[in-house]
Amino acid sequence: MAGEASQGTPREPATPKYLQIAGRYARAIEAGTLRPGDRLPSVRRLHAEERVSISTVMQALARLEAQGLVEARPKSGYFVRARVRAPPPQPARPARRAPSAVGVSALVARVYRAAGDPRVVQLGAAIPTSALLPARELARAIAAEARAHPEAQVDYQMPPGLPELRHQVARRALEWGCTLAADDLVITGGATEAVTLALLAVAAPGAVVAVESPTFYGTLKAIEALGLKALEIPCHPEDGMDLDELEARLDRYKVAAVVSVPNFNNPLGSCMPDLAKARLVEMLAARRIPLVEDDIFGDLAFGPVRPRAAKSWDRDGGVILCGSLSKSLAPGLRVGWAAPGRFRERFEHLKFALNMAAPTLPQRVIARVLREGGYDRHLRTLRARLREIVERVSAAVAESFPPGTRVSRPLGGCFLWVVLPGQVDTLELFTRALDAGVSIAPGAIFSPSQAHRSCIRLGCIEPWSERLDAGVRLVGRLAGRLEG
Ligand SMILES: Cc1ncc(COP(=O)(O)O)c(C=O)c1O
Repeated sequence: MAGEASQGTPREPATPKYLQIAGRYARAIEAGTLRPGDRLPSVRRLHAEERVSISTVMQALARLEAQGLVEARPKSGYFVRARVRAPPPQPARPARRAPSAVGVSALVARVYRAAGDPRVVQLGAAIPTSALLPARELARAIAAEARAHPEAQVDYQMPPGLPELRHQVARRALEWGCTLAADDLVITGGATEAVTLALLAVAAPGAVVAVESPTFYGTLKAIEALGLKALEIPCHPEDGMDLDELEARLDRYKVAAVVSVPNFNNPLGSCMPDLAKARLVEMLAARRIPLVEDDIFGDLAFGPVRPRAAKSWDRDGGVILCGSLSKSLAPGLRVGWAAPGRFRERFEHLKFALNMAAPTLPQRVIARVLREGGYDRHLRTLRARLREIVERVSAAVAESFPPGTRVSRPLGGCFLWVVLPGQVDTLELFTRALDAGVSIAPGAIFSPSQAHRSCIRLGCIEPWSERLDAGVRLVGRLAGRLEG
């Protein structure tokens, strides 16, 4: 561990103009100055009044749309949306902690066992259920590929993986702001394997890895299994990892890698602005610290714009971009990928060492769905449905949880982060809710130090129904009892 180092004045990047404009209109809507149904000034008028380019105006409107504050009506302009009910305030920033060994596995096992029980109302899981995913279309694609390529069932597809799939993923990467060739990619068994191999490639046992806090427990399990230590960096519910804090910690500790989910991270749903992504990549490149970027939720933006991957700012191959379609298409097919940058060779070697090859038929099926455009069609519907479920669950929380509860306002993804007032122990809440037939994810599993004990994550992963509504309200009532 390096000694204490002096901390310079934190650099404050100027707020981009589009965020300033969107922020002003968001405040006017929150304050009721602009009411549901009111029309916003036209794009031309904003362009003239704000003295900014048309594309800046469009970015500001896209931000408001993604926040669920306005909606575009064809040929009429942008209008303030009706809100079900003003959502509770957003969570505050978590506190600082030193690097620690990770030990969340037993707790996590309790949570995912509960999440797999069909009799239980599923607010504890984070994978859209089959009612939201195109199971029938996938079954047809599987049958067609098996017929067309019977050898896919018997042949290994050695690393780096099926060329056609890598080609299709490289094409999609343009949408993430990345120019990748098929040969830059290695196919993996889901994003989980991609992140695990990335950590194996860059961090020796005992090394310190910086993670967002709260963060996805699967990443914590990988860190635990690899004998690494986690350094928790506070994560802001809107903007993601606190980069001033990260910079100060990198000056203080020897860090082997940073793991981040910049787009709609699990569990907060935060989305790092482009300026911050660029700063993160630059900060790590200057120190030659690799960034393991998990972009598994990027496709689930509620607004029309798919956020860029931090990888798109990578100039020296230091970003290992990991992804999969597990949240948006087919978690069961277990297909993921990595663009490992300058670690490409080592990554491929480790993939081979770990399990030789990714299954061939699922790779063919995903390549087919991407090639034929079915994925994009499905994604448009899925994003709108997830947004609706998130809004409804948020409204039910506002109505049924104890006063003082805070809730995240994600712009994408499929969950809400709820901070309960007082010192409610959400492990106890988890047990009581499960006894009553509802699963939730207690905050402690999202942190190696089991911080966030008074928080829960609610998965918004099945179509809205009375059963789901009743489940949320039941958790709210139980939380109220535990608080009192
Ligand atoms: C941030 C994050 N990464 C990875 C995964 C798992 O991805 P996969 O199923 O592709 O292995 C999850 C699942 O919840 C996740 O939340």
